[in-house]
Amino acid sequence: MNDINSLTDNQKHLLCMLRDKDYETYIHSLRVKDLTNDMINIMNAFAVTDYSKKDRMIICKGAILHDIGKLYIDSGVLKKADVLSDDEMRHMSQHTRLGYEAIKNELSDDEHEVIKNICLYHHERLDGRGYEKKAELPMYIQIVSVCDVFDALHSDRIYRKGLNKDECFAIIRGRGRGGAFGGMLVDFLEKVVCDI
Ligand SMILES: [Fe+2]
Ligand SMILES: [Fe+2]
Repeated sequence: MNDINSLTDNQKHLLCMLRDKDYETYIHSLRVKDLTNDMINIMNAFAVTDYSKKDRMIICKGAILHDIGKLYIDSGVLKKADVLSDDEMRHMSQHTRLGYEAIKNELSDDEHEVIKNICLYHHERLDGRGYEKKAELPMYIQIVSVCDVFDALHSDRIYRKGLNKDECFAIIRGRGRGGAFGGMLVDFLEKVVCDI
């Protein structure tokens, strides 16, 4: 499966623009897609999920596009090597909605709901924290979200070196105990990451 080929020409163009604007976010998006694909493989294998090939293709497409809205965030905020101010944080949090707005007219009926939900809600947590409240978080959003958090912690940032896997899981499990992520999801992620 070549996930990039599942994108429309305009979605590919947006992704190229993101690559040129902020290579880190571009490459993060591709890694989140790979992790999401591996998570679906293992969760299907353990019969925790039952995603079809087509479901997986759509969810992975959503994972590639989850941060596409960062294209519309000021570079100064996107690449700031310091803590964001409240205003900057508010601006950054717009990337979810801006991303969905940028691609919504090009989503097929089959994929619209899933990709919309991934773009809009990948920062929402089971404990109710996040940019906005969402009463229910379907499993595919939770999968992309936990992969997103792991990759963000594991990667080098302008303001810090990437954490090692143990440090990442200590943080993710800490949040999981607080109810942000289901424990089972973190166990599967650990299996996936330790196999890479
Ligand atoms: Fe995001
Ligand atoms: Fe992300």
